[in-house]
Amino acid sequence: DWTMDNLIEESVAKIREQVGNKRVLVALSGGVDSSVAAALVHRAIGNQLTAMFVDHGLLRKGESDSVMSTLGGQLGIDVVRVDARDRFLGKLAGVEDPERKRKIIGEEFIRVFEAESERLGPFDFLVQGTLYTDIVESGTHTAATIKSHHNVGGLPEDVRFQIVEPLKELFKDEVRRLGEQLGLPSELVWRQPFPGPGLAIRVIGEVTEDKLAIVRESDAILRDEVANAGLAREIWQYFTVLTSNRTVGVMGDERTYAHTLAIRAVVSQEGMTADFARVPWDVLARISTRIVNEVPGVNRVVYDITSKPPATIEWE
Ligand code: XMP
Repeated sequence: DWTMDNLIEESVAKIREQVGNKRVLVALSGGVDSSVAAALVHRAIGNQLTAMFVDHGLLRKGESDSVMSTLGGQLGIDVVRVDARDRFLGKLAGVEDPERKRKIIGEEFIRVFEAESERLGPFDFLVQGTLYTDIVESGTHTAATIKSHHNVGGLPEDVRFQIVEPLKELFKDEVRRLGEQLGLPSELVWRQPFPGPGLAIRVIGEVTEDKLAIVRESDAILRDEVANAGLAREIWQYFTVLTSNRTVGVMGDERTYAHTLAIRAVVSQEGMTADFARVPWDVLARISTRIVNEVPGVNRVVYDITSKPPATIEWE
């Protein structure tokens, strides 16, 4: 792709000019933007770049390992994985309010980031995966007033770093093409949007490891079946939500009293408004059967048929 090769060449030259021989840090979230930014900066300056991946235990099944194997293994970036799973779970213990959960996760992320960047540093530069639309939209993003969008990866304001923003002139679709050109796998580059607080806001109420496991496993089944049905690129977001509800069921000769799991799937342009996806009944039937059979603790699956507004995409 000629334009992309040009873009890479120009960006590489700019990054080299900006950072010289100084040390550079990037925080990986597992998402598209930070991954592409990291890959691009790595192309420019190799091992002057250190990537920090704070594993808060709230990512989807397999995501943490895939960050390590693709960005670390395949691309050869120096990735340091910080296992902060117990720390985050500890802070979230007993907390039910969605906004408090977001706040705790955002603050804890900054704490871990500060401690680790001190340990690994010093660094002169910090890479941010800011896109053109992030700059244009900031301030007019009304969703921010409905849910505090504490992005994990939102970093402290008292910046001791100079900032490198290699994607700030690009739109999302350009970032995706750039990512492919840089050798990132298409599952990563075409990943659906995923909230910073991760699966913590897909467990209604208190977050525990057992409940996270239910969301993680059911989400993996959902993704698998959506992919099998060839619907992955048509649906903006699709995920499972562990409700705080238990209902009666019957399995074999046994009465069960177990969790109700919800499936949320929406079509949308930018996430500001959304319509529930008209997923074919037979696909939903397969998903439901698999989840109830394969995920212990779930005996009922419901489909969310609300649009945004009046509902939001996430349940919390
Ligand atoms: P809602 O639920 O407000 O979500 O309709 C709109 C879009 O934003 C994502 N979302 C978040 N992203 N931190 C994020 O980085 C958050 O706290 C957060 N809450 C919601 C949501 O997944 C959807 O794409």
